[in-house]
Amino acid sequence: MEHRALVRLAAPAVAALIALTAGCTGGTVQGRPGASGLRDPYFPKAGNGGYQVDHYALDLDYDPADGRLDGTAVITARAEQGLSSFNLDLSGLTVESVTVQGEPARHNRAGNELTVRPAADLKKGEVFRVEVDYGGKPKAIVDADSSKEGWITTPGGAVGVGEPVGSMAWFPGNHHPSDKATYDITLTVPHGYEAVSNGELRSRTETGDGRTEFAWHNPEPMASYLATAVVGPYKVTTAKTPSGVPVYNAVSPGEAAASAGALARLPEIVDWGSGRFGPYPFGTTGAIVLPKGTLTYALETQTRPVFSGAPAEEDLVVHELAHQWFGDSVSPKSWKDMWLNEGFATYAEWLWAEDHGGVGAQKRFEAFLAGDTSVDDDADSDWDAFPPAAPPGPEHISGNPVYYRGAMVLHRIRQEVGDAKFFDLLRGWAVDHRHGNASTAEFTAYAEKRTGHDLKKVWDVWLYGEGRPR
Ligand code: ARG
Ligand code: ZN
Repeated sequence: MEHRALVRLAAPAVAALIALTAGCTGGTVQGRPGASGLRDPYFPKAGNGGYQVDHYALDLDYDPADGRLDGTAVITARAEQGLSSFNLDLSGLTVESVTVQGEPARHNRAGNELTVRPAADLKKGEVFRVEVDYGGKPKAIVDADSSKEGWITTPGGAVGVGEPVGSMAWFPGNHHPSDKATYDITLTVPHGYEAVSNGELRSRTETGDGRTEFAWHNPEPMASYLATAVVGPYKVTTAKTPSGVPVYNAVSPGEAAASAGALARLPEIVDWGSGRFGPYPFGTTGAIVLPKGTLTYALETQTRPVFSGAPAEEDLVVHELAHQWFGDSVSPKSWKDMWLNEGFATYAEWLWAEDHGGVGAQKRFEAFLAGDTSVDDDADSDWDAFPPAAPPGPEHISGNPVYYRGAMVLHRIRQEVGDAKFFDLLRGWAVDHRHGNASTAEFTAYAEKRTGHDLKKVWDVWLYGEGRPR
């Protein structure tokens, strides 16, 4: 293209020519904007198109006294198309500056979308580094089902949790489970506080200005909703599971006595999971017990689930640890696939009971069908209200049918194929999709292939069918 020729053209014609050139290789303008959402069926604006993140390095400075967070996020990503601009998801907080490849980049905010316009377009396949400096008082996000996530303050501290869309309240990112990345989360807090996150504590350093820096390293891929940051007065204990996985527990002092029983079983539960579902997928494990009432749920944050107050029974510890295989290592492709998390984690509780002299899966299955859900403390009569693979809206992705009817889908498979093939399927699924993402369609195809059974009826009636299955 002869650029000199352009001067004689009228402005609209110039714009048209530039648009034409944009698609061509060798032109000066190569990129187009990345999509502002991944069109998830339940959260269409979650995540962003045009790139995939490899790594997040989050440097977060938090002061419990005034609730202020000052953060630097260094995101290493790969362009999947030529990009003239791309989006990150961020809710609240003030963006102070953004650079791409070390060069200042223009940026603007609209709702939960931060649009970044690099000085030069990014080429398809290019690995690029984005640095966002930001800060403010992060807030809680009220979820579609009216539960809270995001950033929640606790007496003398705070916790960041993300399922499903809360992580954008405390760091900018590609916040959809389909884009997994590795993380280094460094938390700097006033001296005397503990700061806990995912993975391995690489270092704990007194900075000399009255603060302590905790560097957490999470080398396995993680969906951003599984990231956590916890600050406060916690009691830390460390141990090893019998097979040698390092355990790091942080317990709110007021909950220490009540947590002791359930946490004492944690090492054994992790190793039991390895026996049932294949090797534990991460390098570290543990638990974080928040002050009672911080959240209305426990969450399977990667390597180190959070509990809101002491876990009432070991069942809940089993549930959150089973998620490490199902949800954390094998993550859903979209929020529609939640039953692959919750159905499996619930079924793991039933299996744990079965293996430890409790009420087993067959009994529970029969009792549920007979209208008696008292065999499972948390279950409710609405376990059959909708098909687990098709929740009727975003407020239902953590609804009872996703958990209980989801678990019953697995039990129906077991009834069809027998124990040997069923347990081979559970393990095969976790091993073959380790550290990846999977959809419901991939599971149903895999189950039929692995077991050699036609399971269409189970899918039609139990997974997708309306009304009470029978
Ligand atoms: N995934 C969590 C658990 O099973 C529950 C999260 C509930 N979140 C919600 N928004 N209702 O263990
Ligand atoms: Zn769960």
